[in-house]
Amino acid sequence: MSIEFGSGKPRAGNKQDIAEQPARAGDAAALDPTRAAEDEAEAGLRPRTMEEYIGQEEAKGNLAVFIEGAKRRGEPLDHVLLHGPPGLGKTTLAAIIAAELGVNLRKTSGPAIEKPKDLAALLTNLEENDILFIDEIHRLSRAIEEILYPAMEDRQLDIIIGQGPSAASICLELRNFTLVGATTRAGQLSAPLRDRFGIDLKLELYTPQELQDIVARSAGILGVPADSKGALEIATRSRGTPRIANRLLRRVRDFAQVKGDGVITKQAADEALTRLGIDKIGLDTVDRRLLTGIIQIYGGGPVGLETLAATVNEEAVTIEDMYEPYLLRKGFLSRTLRGRCATRLAYEHLGLPYDGEGEQETLTM
Ligand SMILES: Nc1ncnc2c1ncn2[C@@H]1O[C@H](COP(=O)(O)OP(=O)(O)OP(=O)(O)O)[C@@H](O)[C@H]1O
Ligand SMILES: [Mg+2]
Repeated sequence: MSIEFGSGKPRAGNKQDIAEQPARAGDAAALDPTRAAEDEAEAGLRPRTMEEYIGQEEAKGNLAVFIEGAKRRGEPLDHVLLHGPPGLGKTTLAAIIAAELGVNLRKTSGPAIEKPKDLAALLTNLEENDILFIDEIHRLSRAIEEILYPAMEDRQLDIIIGQGPSAASICLELRNFTLVGATTRAGQLSAPLRDRFGIDLKLELYTPQELQDIVARSAGILGVPADSKGALEIATRSRGTPRIANRLLRRVRDFAQVKGDGVITKQAADEALTRLGIDKIGLDTVDRRLLTGIIQIYGGGPVGLETLAATVNEEAVTIEDMYEPYLLRKGFLSRTLRGRCATRLAYEHLGLPYDGEGEQETLTM
């Protein structure tokens, strides 16, 4: 195995130099087939600076302090863990952190690091204070995690070179670096790995007002006229998620241009979103199937996640990562010790009679 140091290549003028490894089956993008095409459409909408990054005030405020501190001391930023549901801006924030620090961002993902030498190559090619971004970090193999621990803690890389009797264990000194890990499932991270992140930031679902600002900004970039009520209509139907807001904006734009006068008004947005099967508060057909399934097949619950997944023909992880956060936030669903239950609000929203049976002991998450 050959390990190159520094490689002497000039530092990229564009600090957002992203060395990306190809996505593999099972990556977040592969979970959702529309993701790859969407990522491309999203590229121009991605905020590049903290000022452009709307909302997440708490995470942003804390980060700004940590970044300033690291810069003043001339030290690398402590390792950062970003967690929260898909599409809330974890990858975007990682790139912004690198930009604010003025360092390179190297991007990879948990499942893409298969062998110790993959990680060794990534780590030894980092320049001083660079950021290594590992998406879906909960999917790193245990063997890779074990190599990561000393690298994170003491900047040391312990690897075995060669095979059989000639194999030798060597320890390499690494440059300073910051690991930024992103995950939709922080609970699946092993405790030793999680403990090694000095900064742990949880991203929250966005408020309709924040999403309205995001829609207005994106509409500006796309050159689509949208009035404030039109933007708010899209925002309130975007499940608290910027990626969804941008996706709905593009679909509403199509309807407005083909069927209307091209301007995104409240009425244009409402017509388009209703045609897309997205209701007044942003629930789509899968959300409604989930809730009606719990209510009509399982008497309001509790029903286990796997059973529910089979009923609506979706993966359990998709339900947990993509659907549940918003339904929980809206108070339509509760997680109990024995499974998922639909709440009174869910019955009311769906216009179904509520007999009070579904209410169960809730499990605080
Ligand atoms: N705070 C924000 N302000 C404006 N736009 C945002 C913000 N956060 C995210 N976006 C938009 O949403 C899109 C999705 O964000 P991003 O890819 O960073 O999400 P993610 O959390 O990494 O998702 P995943 O878990 O699926 O990888 C971005 O391309 C960007 O356009
Ligand atoms: Mg991401």
